[in-house]
Amino acid sequence: MCGIIGYTGGAQAAPKLLNGLKRLDYRGYDSSGIAVLERGKITVVKAEGKVAVLDKKTDFGNALRGTVGIGHTRWATHGAPSDANAHPHASNDGRFAIVHNGIIENFFELKQTLAASGCVFSSETDSEVIVHLIETLYNGDMLATLVKAERELKGSYAVGILCADAPNTIYAIRKDNPLMIGINGKNGENFIASDVAAALEYTHEFVLLGDGEIAAVSPAEVAFYDADGKPITKEPYTVKWNIEQAEKGGYPHFMIKEIHEQPRALTDTVRQRIKRDGSIDLDGIELTPEYIASLDGIDIIGCGSAYHAGIVGKYFIEKHARIRVNCELASEYIYSDPITGANRLTLIISQSGETADTLAALRLAKKRGSRTIAVVNVVESAIAREADGVLYTHAGPEIAVATTKGYTTQIAALYLIGLKAARIKGAITNERYSALIKELLSVSDKVSAMLAPAEIEQMLALAKKYSKNHCAFFIGRGADYAASLEGALKLKEISYIHAEAYAAGELKHGTISLIEEGTVTLALVTQSALYPKMESNIKSVSSRKGTVIAVASPENAKISSASDKVIILPECDDDIAPILAAVALQLFAYYVADCRKCDIDKPRNLAKSVTVE
Ligand code: F6R
Repeated sequence: MCGIIGYTGGAQAAPKLLNGLKRLDYRGYDSSGIAVLERGKITVVKAEGKVAVLDKKTDFGNALRGTVGIGHTRWATHGAPSDANAHPHASNDGRFAIVHNGIIENFFELKQTLAASGCVFSSETDSEVIVHLIETLYNGDMLATLVKAERELKGSYAVGILCADAPNTIYAIRKDNPLMIGINGKNGENFIASDVAAALEYTHEFVLLGDGEIAAVSPAEVAFYDADGKPITKEPYTVKWNIEQAEKGGYPHFMIKEIHEQPRALTDTVRQRIKRDGSIDLDGIELTPEYIASLDGIDIIGCGSAYHAGIVGKYFIEKHARIRVNCELASEYIYSDPITGANRLTLIISQSGETADTLAALRLAKKRGSRTIAVVNVVESAIAREADGVLYTHAGPEIAVATTKGYTTQIAALYLIGLKAARIKGAITNERYSALIKELLSVSDKVSAMLAPAEIEQMLALAKKYSKNHCAFFIGRGADYAASLEGALKLKEISYIHAEAYAAGELKHGTISLIEEGTVTLALVTQSALYPKMESNIKSVSSRKGTVIAVASPENAKISSASDKVIILPECDDDIAPILAAVALQLFAYYVADCRKCDIDKPRNLAKSVTVE
């Protein structure tokens, strides 16, 4: 996600803005920019690359005069990283500048209307519609303008706004994206910030702007209004964190912060692609009935967790679109002399978009005439650039080496592709399609429920109990087997406990000889049709005195009678369960690793982006 800082006070704004942007830089951004207002004129400077480039371009801020300004570091979502796409965006008359975090879901419709009324767009971003909308609605009264603007905007946003007619003032609006006001009355200065880390050097007093609320921030005063423009009072709170704690949002590790970011990441990945009539728009990637009919199969390729997401996708696509899917590890695919061509679609899965094996697989598939669609998180990464089409997961920057939100958003993106193909092919009934769309739209609320304090407490207690074990098995059938693979990887990579995943039916073909008193098996039981088979697999573990921790959907909660402990997931469709099971297993792995005092964000021998084959 992007970062916002704004300053108004007695000092020069630009150096303070640059300083704030550097505090946000730990998240890894692709471009940045600042806008400063002086004597009724707004000056904007933007630069692709790290904040250091902006430093250079502005002589460390000294080239811009003015005591009020806004700044932004960008993590590209709509449009490649470039000077033009960097924020702030200015209105055509130069009277307004805005910085935006989030996604404007109706930007396409707004852009069409605004362009028809004469607005000229200079970027590919969704954010630019906000500044033209404000310019068009402005009638000399900023508050009334923002009330109207908020009624037009759909999606999530935290926005900082400069208006040339309002000296010393930053306006702020937000919905579903954090924005706070940093108060430093002692020094006669105030801030806006997307993360407290950006302003923590200057103040520890913050007010969180609520959904739909508006703030007018000047050095002497911060005025708050509700969505109808009526004044409201808000109390500041004190943030006791130091900078390092603030970067992690108060969490002890990036991994747990990123686990908690999953409701937002899933919403951003799914919601904007599901249209009001329930149809799915894959960011313009065309899948015609003729093309789908011409396919004799799909290859899904990735490494590590991305490969596991592919396996979940395989089960889903085969079940609903009735297209045969082959899922392969990129490092195997490239040396397998793959049989592919125009009649096979290749889905390339990668969070970073830079994994060397996956990139090589993409190039090989393309060379052999297969159409390639990448499911990638990092915009304009090598894989995103080279694929024929790209569907971005909007997970936001992932810092922890072990992927969490990157993985669950990959599954969500694959579900969208699967449902779209199923619909085009006529392989799914309208009822089932609508039910799955509904489930996808509500999955983030279910993940939120799993992250409630009481649930976390339960997971922590469980992790404590088993953190001293030396090995663990993960078993499941169907999509639960795919979820087991990811659960085992998560546990072993961050806690260094040897963990193995098995298709539950395979245990009896050899592995069961390893089960003895105290051996822990995490058994996934979310696929209701497979319940009787899973129950007998679980009994075969417990009859050898193995310990069974079941992870079950409410419909399969009766498995508790055959298990030592059961984690019940929120109510959901069996096909959506792999996302919820992943969250449960991420939490288990995280707390086990924490009990073992492991270096969770940077496990030994691992790198976030594997750029060697
Ligand atoms: C595990 C993990 C790795 C990555 C793999 C692929 O937690 O993060 O297994 O999934 O290295 O990386 P990307 O998705 O960047 O291609």
